[in-house]
Amino acid sequence: MTLLNILHFPDPKLRTIAKPVTDFGRELKQLIANMFETMYEAPGIGLAATQVDRHIRLLVMDVSEDRNKPQCLINPELLELDGEEESEEGCLSVPGFYEMVKRAENIRVRTQDEMGVPREFDAEGMEAVCIQHEMDHLEGKLFVDYISSLKRDRIRTKLIKMKKNDELG
Ligand code: NI
Repeated sequence: MTLLNILHFPDPKLRTIAKPVTDFGRELKQLIANMFETMYEAPGIGLAATQVDRHIRLLVMDVSEDRNKPQCLINPELLELDGEEESEEGCLSVPGFYEMVKRAENIRVRTQDEMGVPREFDAEGMEAVCIQHEMDHLEGKLFVDYISSLKRDRIRTKLIKMKKNDELG
């Protein structure tokens, strides 16, 4: 397996809108395996294909405490959103920064698995937050888009400086 390079804000490639996955072949399974390895290694609880410069509607996540419940969502759609909760979010593409973001509390998701088989499920709490955060990536959106432009500019400046000093890895 291979560790993939993660793009960092404000890289314009993170603004790409991902295309639907249509080919469920070997290449997709390889990418999924590499994304899981990259996410666990980072470590992070979620990773969208957009973040590794692959612009297809695919994300991997694991919000379990023991890091043993991998979930892979392909062509995910939000069917229902209900309630509102605010929680602190971070992002592997915005390393070292955490901000409060409001999201729907309960969601119903339709997705496909690695074989292309569709399924639907309900999510709440951290799982719901993570799915909404990762699905935003597929639309070219980042959690820093929800905070004030003043804070966002400060984060942008710091990350550009860190990148220049080769501190982002
Ligand atoms: Ni993220």
